[in-house]
Amino acid sequence: MTFRSPFAIPRQLLTGTTSLGGRSAISTRLRCNQRGLATVVPPVTQDATGSKGPTAMVFMNMGGPSTTDEVEDFLSRLFADGDLIPLGRLQSYLGPLIARRRTSKIQKQYADIGGGSPIRKWSEYQCAEMCKLLDKMSPETAPHKPYVAFRYAAPLTETMYEQLFADGFGKGKGGRAVAFTQYPQYSCSTTGSSLNELWKWRNRLEGKRANGGSEPAGTIQWSVIDRWPSHSGLVEAFAQNIEAQLKTYPEEKRDEVVLLFSAHSLPMSVVNRGDPYPAEVAATVHAVMQRLRFKNPYRLCWQSQVGPSAWLGAQTSDTVQEYVKRGQTDLILVPIAFTSDHIETLYELDQEVIHEANNPGVKRAESLNGNPVFIQALADIAHDHLQKGELCSRQMTLRCQGCTSERCLGQKKFFAGQEQASMVI
Ligand code: FES
Repeated sequence: MTFRSPFAIPRQLLTGTTSLGGRSAISTRLRCNQRGLATVVPPVTQDATGSKGPTAMVFMNMGGPSTTDEVEDFLSRLFADGDLIPLGRLQSYLGPLIARRRTSKIQKQYADIGGGSPIRKWSEYQCAEMCKLLDKMSPETAPHKPYVAFRYAAPLTETMYEQLFADGFGKGKGGRAVAFTQYPQYSCSTTGSSLNELWKWRNRLEGKRANGGSEPAGTIQWSVIDRWPSHSGLVEAFAQNIEAQLKTYPEEKRDEVVLLFSAHSLPMSVVNRGDPYPAEVAATVHAVMQRLRFKNPYRLCWQSQVGPSAWLGAQTSDTVQEYVKRGQTDLILVPIAFTSDHIETLYELDQEVIHEANNPGVKRAESLNGNPVFIQALADIAHDHLQKGELCSRQMTLRCQGCTSERCLGQKKFFAGQEQASMVI
């Protein structure tokens, strides 16, 4: 059976394969302690002193199971998402079936990275810290209240929405909310899927459907930060993490280290539909290299491909193996499309690709996680968005050339607002 996932499904989620054989449990635990759940998150402190607001800041991402007990539900939702894994008319039957068959193997892999995904911990921390900065930078829209909405794991979009109601937003009280994607580069399979879900729950919980067919007054006023692939703060945070890892090599060899930027792959069917993701990932890579003055040779490669259909390549694992075979054993892997650690960094890169390379010169740059430069970048992006008052980027109004989805059309028209709805094509 071939699964044509339009966005990166971690290979482990689909195959449940592992390459851990031969390594000691101690080394695995050590890695987990270095990069996994054991990483200590600093305490969040709120400082909402503004006179207006509040403004809800909602971080959207795919999410991940925080404990191994959440794995089956996570997989069920993931395989039920036709934006991510189109299984056609059999989606509702095949999705749960695949999820059940994968669960125990995937649970083991989450156990290997510390017992679950750290993405919730990092997302909540990043959002809360960003809000604290925003309260100072933008007192006119303060207090900024942090929320997280995951597509496949708790807290889900509907949970976040109910929390907004409980906190005094909507239901006749209005209020402003910003949907801030945590995928820096836009794909219809990721940010697009999260926006489809947000639009769905908005309609169910406070749209016409919830109000007997007419649009109610006092609903939440949404705007969207839909992409930020080459923001200078994002670029700076990536560059500093790369420089920190470069410093671990002897000075005379430092400029010869090859930088391998790694992002989730896409099936070529999605690329050929016109998905903007590959171009936006390339924009991030180029901006980071420009900041690093192109001192090191580099390549962009793609991870997590599954099944026999054509995917965007070259694959990260193949790339590492090939360069090592040619004698280039100093390589730094740079996860360039995610803003915190997750199974694709902690397991796929650290415990599969780097382990299989079996060479001390093959390393990985740290993920953004709690990096203060990155959190300041988030605040700058949000501040700019609030100042401009735009509902979404102009780019979001243009659908993919090959898009035939009525859901994409409806979602984009809603978030573009009445004035821009006619621009959605
Ligand atoms: Fe890209 Fe619909 S698939 S806009």
